Amino acid sequence: MIPYSYALSSSLAMFFNLKLLVLLLLVPISYATQPYSTWMSDSFITRGVPADRHYANAVLYRGFELAFNKTGNVTYYNYIKSQVDQFVDPAGNLGGNYSTSLYSLDDLRMGPNLLFLYQSTQDKRYKTAAGQLRAQLNRQPRTPLGGFWHRSPDYPNQMWLDGIYMVEPFYAQWNRLFDANNVTAWDDIILQFDLIEQHCRNKTSNLLVHGYDESKVAVWADAVTGASPHVWNRALGWYFMALIDVLDYLPVSHSGYEKLLGYMVSLAVGVKAAQDASGGWWLVMDAPYPGMKGNYIESSATAMFTYSFLKAIRLGYIDSATYLETAQKAYSLMTTKFVAQNGTKSTLNWEGTVVVGGLGGNATLR
Ligand SMILES: *[C@@H]1O[C@H](CO)[C@@H](O)[C@H](O)[C@H]1NC(C)=O
Ligand SMILES: *[C@@H]1O[C@H](CO)[C@@H](O)[C@H](O)[C@H]1NC(C)=O
Ligand SMILES: *[C@@H]1O[C@H](CO)[C@@H](O)[C@H](O)[C@H]1NC(C)=O
Ligand SMILES: *[C@@H]1O[C@H](CO)[C@@H](O)[C@H](O)[C@H]1NC(C)=O
Ligand SMILES: *[C@@H]1O[C@H](CO)[C@@H](O)[C@H](O)[C@H]1NC(C)=O
Ligand SMILES: *[C@@H]1O[C@H](CO)[C@@H](O)[C@H](O)[C@H]1NC(C)=O
Ligand SMILES: *[C@@H]1O[C@H](CO)[C@@H](O)[C@H](O)[C@H]1NC(C)=O
Repeated sequence: MIPYSYALSSSLAMFFNLKLLVLLLLVPISYATQPYSTWMSDSFITRGVPADRHYANAVLYRGFELAFNKTGNVTYYNYIKSQVDQFVDPAGNLGGNYSTSLYSLDDLRMGPNLLFLYQSTQDKRYKTAAGQLRAQLNRQPRTPLGGFWHRSPDYPNQMWLDGIYMVEPFYAQWNRLFDANNVTAWDDIILQFDLIEQHCRNKTSNLLVHGYDESKVAVWADAVTGASPHVWNRALGWYFMALIDVLDYLPVSHSGYEKLLGYMVSLAVGVKAAQDASGGWWLVMDAPYPGMKGNYIESSATAMFTYSFLKAIRLGYIDSATYLETAQKAYSLMTTKFVAQNGTKSTLNWEGTVVVGGLGGNATLR
């Protein structure tokens, strides 16, 4: 059936996924009576979200940032701030059991939210809190080739595409703001992408598998490359967004800039080619699994790819003649199939996604 520990979600699982990020950027084109950005944001506020410093909330808050940016409505800004203030104390210590001895790249995704608040308030405690996350990178265990372990001690010598999204946009933003002449750090950011590309990219399909184990001891690791066996759409969605978001901060003059752009453009080719006729993408994307029993068109990666295509078109990285139709078709599926009104209520649900997926299992189809 489905690899790892994927499970179908209930509507509650939407808390742990990322839909909002994409919905925000888009204008309504179907049955919406108001922009999905504010409608979905209002739905979360109505339901109530427990404040939390982990990546799922971090991505949710990112969505609120974009809703605020689009509308200028301080309701959304105040919501983020009131949440973050529950786990950043007056001295700038990051609460919520943040540990300086467990090294999880997932923890760093809150970094961009903290920098957003720092930039809008100039309140140093947000910079202090973000600095704790930046400091983690100086201790994070690395593979022999220099890649950050996805999480220590759980996943030794493993790099996952997910981790690239959790870390690199923040690492680049931090460097751009506070350490722009730190060439070591810029090179380090490029290295993380290079290692993933060298071990996970299939140059025929232009898609990347979920991760790799440089020590090749994980039960799923390829004996030669260490790669995991399958292309998981959500990991690829994180990765696509990471490539595009890092380009916001990486100096154009850096030798890695064109290279990252190239990685992103060839990924766009692969993702477009893998789009299902419905406009979405299969949870397990590599042949021969699309269409197979137990596999399904999964909504959050569809949203992440849509975000990536639209932002890349907007910034002129890829051309609209080739990619806009792909993005619009995906967007249309999102709004007609995955966005659902909660019964007769005016709140929205996001359907068709999973609670979690990882490389903790044997990564086979079962
Ligand atoms: C959405 O619907 C579910 C049941 O379908 C209900 O438990 C939940 O409270 C509703 N949420 C809102 C905000 O209306
Ligand atoms: C939204 O972002 C743009 C670009 O960074 C910025 O110029 C604008 O002031 C922002 N709008 C708000 C309401 O923050
Ligand atoms: C801002 O958003 C809130 C929540 O949707 C809404 O009640 C309020 O009217 C909005 N404010 C403005 C100025 O549009
Ligand atoms: C912190 O850890 C304690 C003990 O494991 C747990 O009860 C508590 O819920 C955790 N707090 C947060 C915010 O995660
Ligand atoms: C520059 O970045 C490297 C790599 O992350 C780090 O080890 C070093 O401490 C940074 N230098 C400064 C001055 O922050
Ligand atoms: C790479 O992708 C092609 C086209 O889908 C496929 O035939 C081939 O088996 C893949 N290679 C690996 C190593 O998975
Ligand atoms: C992989 O794990 C699943 C779930 O635990 C199990 O059903 C399946 O037999 C395992 N497959 C292999 C090849 O070990």
